[in-house]
Amino acid sequence: MKVFVTGGAGFIGSNLLQLLVPRYPDHHFVNVDKLTYAANPASLSNLEALGNYALEVVDIADREAVEALYAKHEPTLVIHLAAESHVDKSILGPEVFIQTNVLGTFNLLEGFKKHSMAKDGALFHHVSTDEVYGSLGDTGLFTEQTRYDPSSPYSASKASSDHLVRAYGRTYDLPFKLTNCSNNYGPRQFPEKLIPLMILNAVERKPLPIYGEGLNVRDWLYVTDHCEAIWAVIERGTLGETYNIGGNSEKRNVDVVHALIDIVADETGAPLDELKGLITYVQDRPGHDHRYAIDATRIAEECDWRASETFESGMRKTVKWYLDNTQWVEQVRSGEYLKWIEDNYGDRLAAR
Ligand code: NAD
Ligand code: TYD
Repeated sequence: MKVFVTGGAGFIGSNLLQLLVPRYPDHHFVNVDKLTYAANPASLSNLEALGNYALEVVDIADREAVEALYAKHEPTLVIHLAAESHVDKSILGPEVFIQTNVLGTFNLLEGFKKHSMAKDGALFHHVSTDEVYGSLGDTGLFTEQTRYDPSSPYSASKASSDHLVRAYGRTYDLPFKLTNCSNNYGPRQFPEKLIPLMILNAVERKPLPIYGEGLNVRDWLYVTDHCEAIWAVIERGTLGETYNIGGNSEKRNVDVVHALIDIVADETGAPLDELKGLITYVQDRPGHDHRYAIDATRIAEECDWRASETFESGMRKTVKWYLDNTQWVEQVRSGEYLKWIEDNYGDRLAAR
């Protein structure tokens, strides 16, 4: 079977390919990726020797390029992860989020409708986020029935893409499944996101910028658990249905940062008090969602999936990975990354 994994050179996509390519030697995996700033093809260099993996450098917002790619490969399964994925970036520059997340999803659906959906076992699996549901108060959980109420340009663009996928299902009978997952962490995450940013800044004794008072809550899930959940839904989920994925691991940001610096101190011998002194409260994110938390009952019951890492075990693995993979970190921190740090944190630090 031919499988497209879009966004396969990004954080979740590269972890998914690392899991699936060796496990399924009879499937041929094509990584469809534009290789934006968030991608690192070095994350996948070991797969090139396996013979059932190839990279196609394509912008999914380019309708003609996507059409040509479908005509060339005619995939049976598309696992769609390619996206602009960072909320703060979407606040400072939303346009590319519409291009990639909305128009890109539309192009992939059109190609799938024309070249793939008539095949035996055809499936378009759309990977999305719990941020489409907006913000929770101090209690309650997101279920598959929660009303969409996105807050940021990122989550609004993902909500649009979810709607397009469901509309193609209803209108054209396009076979799809959809997953909405909580915040991921783990190896190969671009250091613009909270966890890798804090690990690397702690190691390098740079400020640890916490937005607002650090009381916002996220439901953290180790990336490999997310990848196994996607595959469980592809194998055992019902066509046309949605599954929420979460780690049952709610933490306030300030507690996440304390947990991380404890591990960094333990693993590197850095003095804990010195790391605590790096914590810097900075100007809050506009429209900052207060709390995300997932009810993952449905995927547990219907697809027999449960997270296997705890927050503690997953965080330690993650810290160790960043300590052991300094070359990977250097590769992704280009001039563009340094500019982002200035754009996002320059004014925040000044305004505190
Ligand atoms: P990421 O930013 O690390 O990677 C995104 C990948 O998509 C990169 O390899 C990038 O090059 C590629 N890409 C971006 N624009 C493209 C375009 N126009 N054409 C082709 N490729 C393009 O993102 P991630 O964290 O790995 O997220 C992957 C998916 O999972 C996204 O759809 C995201 O919305 C969803 N998701 C992420 C999380 C999370 O916590 N990271 C949680 C739930 C859902
Ligand atoms: P992030 O990793 O950007 O994920 P998301 O916004 O998709 O949830 O942020 C996680 C939480 O951490 C979020 O509440 C914002 C907060 N945060 C900080 O406090 N400081 C930072 O430097 C970053 C990047 C995020």
